[in-house]
Amino acid sequence: MISNLQKERAAYQPKLPKGLQGGVVAKEGKPTQSVADQEDIKALFPNTYGLPVIEFEQSGQTQNVAPFNVGVILSGGQAPGGHNVISGLFDGIKSLNADSKLYGFLMGPGGLVDHKYIELTSDIIDEYRNTGGFDIIGSGRTKLEEESQFESGIQILRQLNIKALVIIGGDDSNTNACVLAEYYAAKNYGVQVIGCPKTIDGDLKNEQIETSFGFDTACKTYSELIGNIQRDCNSSRKYWHFIKLMGRSASHIALECALQCQPNICLISEEVEAKNLSLDDIVEQIAKSVAARAAQGNNYGTVLIPEGLIEFIPAIKRLIAELNDVLSTEEARSAARSREEQLDFVKTHLSADNLMTLESLPDDVALQLALDRDPHGNVQVSLIETEKLLSRMVSRKLNQMRKDGKYNGKFTTLHHFFGYEGRCAAPSNYDADYCYSLGFNASRLIANGKTGYMSIIRNTTAPAAEWIAGGVPITMMMNMEKRSGKMKPVIRKALVELDGAPFRTFASKRDEWAVNTCYLYPGPIQYWGPSAVCDQPTKTLALEQH
Ligand code: FBP
Repeated sequence: MISNLQKERAAYQPKLPKGLQGGVVAKEGKPTQSVADQEDIKALFPNTYGLPVIEFEQSGQTQNVAPFNVGVILSGGQAPGGHNVISGLFDGIKSLNADSKLYGFLMGPGGLVDHKYIELTSDIIDEYRNTGGFDIIGSGRTKLEEESQFESGIQILRQLNIKALVIIGGDDSNTNACVLAEYYAAKNYGVQVIGCPKTIDGDLKNEQIETSFGFDTACKTYSELIGNIQRDCNSSRKYWHFIKLMGRSASHIALECALQCQPNICLISEEVEAKNLSLDDIVEQIAKSVAARAAQGNNYGTVLIPEGLIEFIPAIKRLIAELNDVLSTEEARSAARSREEQLDFVKTHLSADNLMTLESLPDDVALQLALDRDPHGNVQVSLIETEKLLSRMVSRKLNQMRKDGKYNGKFTTLHHFFGYEGRCAAPSNYDADYCYSLGFNASRLIANGKTGYMSIIRNTTAPAAEWIAGGVPITMMMNMEKRSGKMKPVIRKALVELDGAPFRTFASKRDEWAVNTCYLYPGPIQYWGPSAVCDQPTKTLALEQH
């Protein structure tokens, strides 16, 4: 049984850029360089460094190649459109030769290492076209970085006669894809590796990648919910809603939702860091808005909080950096301790300043910050209840302001965390087309013998036919960063740029939003109907490309 929407949506044929329709010819640009640390990156990636950017153009001839097999992996957090990348890839390889085969490795990169896979036949693919989720083959966060994993991978790739592996993932997974591409190239194993830019967080973007897929649908889903909450609070006029939004370190999701919904407050982590704000400064900013609205009789409002906020408060950032070093030592990793014992151990190794910061935090937040890391070493910010921490502190500040005669209102709060609600939403038209094109394009990169490349589609604020398809060498996006105590080559994360058009637009309006009620109600994603509601890209992308 499938829902009516699924039924109707299954019939949707995603659009492809003109350059990918029919046979293609690859136009190569100049040799490239990494964004920083060129010598280090070049030395680490001798076979995949410096390759040119590729752009595909219509060749006017039909392309026919010998059948070839491809493997695909979904890596990390779900993002709307993953199934369309896979269906685009499937259609792409079949269009080159109907006997080509696609294998899906199960539950993320671990499926490659453990040899768990299925063949993705047309029956399976058809069931998942234009649907949200990653459930066609599942996803996982196993980190591909050990030689033994690469060697285990090559065994199954050879057994299935796979010519190329497509890794659909975020910055960490694509960094690993590049390391794998380099390893297989250095060993002459004859297996190509291609990456695809996925993540709702929107932080995998640069001069070549306009946006990561899933950002569009996820932001539109959260904006619908925020708009609904704003309508509710504008109706009952009695609650302040503290809404935390996913996005890991970057505040792109919060910023996009603010542009779509015009809440009273939206915090931007990158600004907090740049202005060296303390937790108290942030609390003061919110309390001022609450007091100003209360003075007009409006004891309600909305506050958007990016989930990574806590990591960007400079004192806490310094603390996390030292915690990461302490946690990466042999002594910290080897001993079997309870969480409380581990926290005590960590405390004895911190400098006085950082210890003071840690001890100023509520116990639950201190424990999560000090101990919980994902397999890539990231703080698990989605587990930290910043929205509650902030509303508690604002309430305390307002009590003080009341005593000082600066506030006279009611402050009743409700808390929300939006993340999982949007990661598997049915892809918007933008994501459905973008993802299908990314997957289809990956088949052309493979057919052209490329490895260590990310599939890219540009010019996406224009109609799909005018989109530009091609590939960018992954090494081009890399720099050296400290991870688990060691310098490692990684793709540079794109954070919100404070001199960029999306932030500047928000900053020019937020003072008015903080005091007045300027809410917008974007409503649910529309798949059919007027273009003004069905085919608009995110405000972030529109402003960036303007
Ligand atoms: P990716 O970086 O893998 O795309 O994941 C995005 C994300 O949704 C973050 O926004 C969030 O912090 C994290 O995943 C949550 O992780 P998990 O799915 O393991 O709970």
